[in-house]
Amino acid sequence: MIQRKPTTSLTFSAIAAMGLLMTSCSGDVNSPGVEYMPDMYRSPAVEAYVDFGQDPYIFSEELAREQRERPSARKPVDGTISFSQDATKAMYRMPYPYPNTVDGYEQAGLELKSPIAMTESTVEQGKVIYTKFCVQCHGEKGAGNGPVVERGGHPPPGAYDGPLKDLPEGKMFHTITYGKGVMGSHASQLNKEERWLVIQYVKYLQAGGKMPGAAPVAASDTTTAI
Ligand code: HEC
Repeated sequence: MIQRKPTTSLTFSAIAAMGLLMTSCSGDVNSPGVEYMPDMYRSPAVEAYVDFGQDPYIFSEELAREQRERPSARKPVDGTISFSQDATKAMYRMPYPYPNTVDGYEQAGLELKSPIAMTESTVEQGKVIYTKFCVQCHGEKGAGNGPVVERGGHPPPGAYDGPLKDLPEGKMFHTITYGKGVMGSHASQLNKEERWLVIQYVKYLQAGGKMPGAAPVAASDTTTAI
C-alpha cells in the first residue's frame, strides 16, 4: 500500500503536465489552444449572420474567413410583407401608406378607416391597452389629466370629449403610429391591431363614456340597460 503512493502521484503529475502542454501551446496568439468543451466558450445558440457550422480554429484561415463572410440571414427587401397564417389578420401586415407629413396626416383622416367593428368586447380590449399605455397622460376618462400631466411632466393633451371630440379615427391611428407634438410614436409598443383596438376605447371616451350612437341611458332605464 505504501509502495503505491509514489506511482499514483506520478500518474497525476503526468496527466497534469500533459493537460498543461495541450492547452497552453499554440502558434496563433488569437487561438485559445485546445479547448476542453468548446460549447462552454462559444454558445451553440444560432445568431444571425454567423455560421457556426465548423470551428474556424481547427480549419484553415481561408475557411474561417469564408464562413465569417457567408450570411445565414438577410434583411428582407423593401416592401416585403410578412406571412400571416390567419387570413383575417393579413391586412395588419400591409405597409402603412401615409407618410409622416402634414398632408399624410390629413389624408389618413379622410381615408383611413378601422377594420374592427365596434362592439362592447373590442372596446373592453381597447380599454386594457389604454390603461397600460395612455392613461398616464390622457387620464382615465380621456380628459387630458393623467398623473404625468398633473405633476407637470407634460402639457395636457386635449380632452377626447372636448377639443378632440370630432377627431377622425384615421388621424388617431396616424398619431399613434408616428407621434404628434410631445406624444411619442407608439408603433413599437402596439402592433396595428392593438392600435385599432385602443382607438375603439378612445372613440368610446369621445362619446362621453358610452358606445357612440347609443342613446343616453335615462336614470329610470339603468336597471334594464344591460
Ligand atoms: C407622454 C404622454 C402621452 C402618452 C403616453 C400618450 N399620449 Fe396621446 N397625446 C399626448 C399629447 C401631449 C397630445 C397632444 C399632441 C399635440 O396635438 O401636439 C396627444 C394627442 C393624442 C391624440 C390626438 C391626436 C391628434 O391627431 O390630434 C390621440 C388620439 C391620442 N393622443 C391617443 C393616445 C393613445 C391611444 C395613447 C396610448 C396608446 C396615447 N395617446 C399616449 C400625450 C400622450
